[in-house]
Amino acid sequence: MPVTIVLGSQWGDEGKGKIVDRLAAKSDYVARYQGGANAGHTIKLPDGKEFVLHLIPSGIFQPEVLCVIGNGVVIDPVALREEIAMLEAAGVTVKNRLFISYNAHLIMPYHKLIDKAMEAKLGKIDSSKAVGTTGRGIGPAYEDKFARKGIRIVDLLDRPSLTEKLRQNITEKNELLSSFYDSKDLCDVEKIVAEYQAFDSEIDPYVTDTALMLNTAIKQGKRILAEGAQAALLDIDFGTYPYVTSSNPTAGGACTGLGIPPTSIDNVIGVVKAYSTRVGNGPFPTELLDETGELLRSVGHEFGATTGRPRRCGWLDAVSVRYTSMLNGINSIALTKLDVLSGMDEIKLCTHYERTTDGKRLEHFTTDLRALANIRPIYESFAGWGKNDFDGITSRQALPETAKKYLLAIEKEIGVSLGIISLGPGRNETLADGL
Ligand code: IMP
Repeated sequence: MPVTIVLGSQWGDEGKGKIVDRLAAKSDYVARYQGGANAGHTIKLPDGKEFVLHLIPSGIFQPEVLCVIGNGVVIDPVALREEIAMLEAAGVTVKNRLFISYNAHLIMPYHKLIDKAMEAKLGKIDSSKAVGTTGRGIGPAYEDKFARKGIRIVDLLDRPSLTEKLRQNITEKNELLSSFYDSKDLCDVEKIVAEYQAFDSEIDPYVTDTALMLNTAIKQGKRILAEGAQAALLDIDFGTYPYVTSSNPTAGGACTGLGIPPTSIDNVIGVVKAYSTRVGNGPFPTELLDETGELLRSVGHEFGATTGRPRRCGWLDAVSVRYTSMLNGINSIALTKLDVLSGMDEIKLCTHYERTTDGKRLEHFTTDLRALANIRPIYESFAGWGKNDFDGITSRQALPETAKKYLLAIEKEIGVSLGIISLGPGRNETLADGL
């Protein structure tokens, strides 16, 4: 069966871009299935050039690969246009390689205004109430989709219909912005109508029935990589709600976000960072608010690829990754950024939690925020390895013994083996026995 899903197993920023770029070399298609320009997938090419992709699948740098943006993605046409121009300026062919679902919903300027107004209002009540969104209009765009008011890619190809829908939506959103959010920042209907009408000829060459395209490819035995954005602990259903994104990064999202059947999926690769990070508010049991957290942030360059915000950092939490492995049926882990831990004297892995009220041992993660507020992480401690100990390493066997011990413990605690181990951002700084 030809579909492999690659998804984030923590709170995002695990380094999915690099893993997808690598696996794309053995794929015919790479398809994004959810989220929008809130994602920031970083890819470093062999010539040292680094790119950050927000919407276009990370397979675009493998010249033979076709890329799909599925119906489950919310597309900001302005961000898409910029990304296409950025890639073309860098000599990457996008035409005839990028295919966009006609069913995908659009992010409009009013979605971004509402996203920001909503966050400001929550933050005013109490700063911890704000979700800490990327401000890219993701939540409000999915709201419209589920309220059946959304504007889709297909509408961009039909000027009269687009104009009617825009007028209707903008009237409603301006009312919401001014009356409920007290915002002076409103949308100019005529300006937006004129701007978005002009997208038709630009977007037309990319638009197709991507579900049909992918299912035809599946029948032909082609290899498809389904690329998740954000991560399982930010899932709208299974994440730490309401501190989540508004889509399903979990494996099921690949089926609904691309229109492919569950029976076509044969691999689910969970990308796990060798430590944990989180951007925005919400529970984070292993967060380190000390100099070790600072060290992880500076050595790991843990600043948002989309917003530049500093990421919260902490030790790897096997409890939460066990949970996401279970939810997604992860059968192989791609462990990233192990090199960031090099040079530390001690490395910790959270193996279980303890309830603070009665000391009870807890093996299972929960998204019940009240329960999560009453746990403390329990760690197993490991000796570190030297700063330069990974120089010239080309196999897992050749890693320092202390690093091997840490890797074995991760496999034991999560119950899934490591198929890929990444020791740096470059394509060849990767150990991938058998993959
Ligand atoms: P939104 O997706 O912009 O609505 O943000 C909701 C939550 O998801 C916030 O905590 C964001 O920081 C987080 N988030 C969204 N996209 C990403 C991502 O690509 N990496 C990490 N966190 C993200």
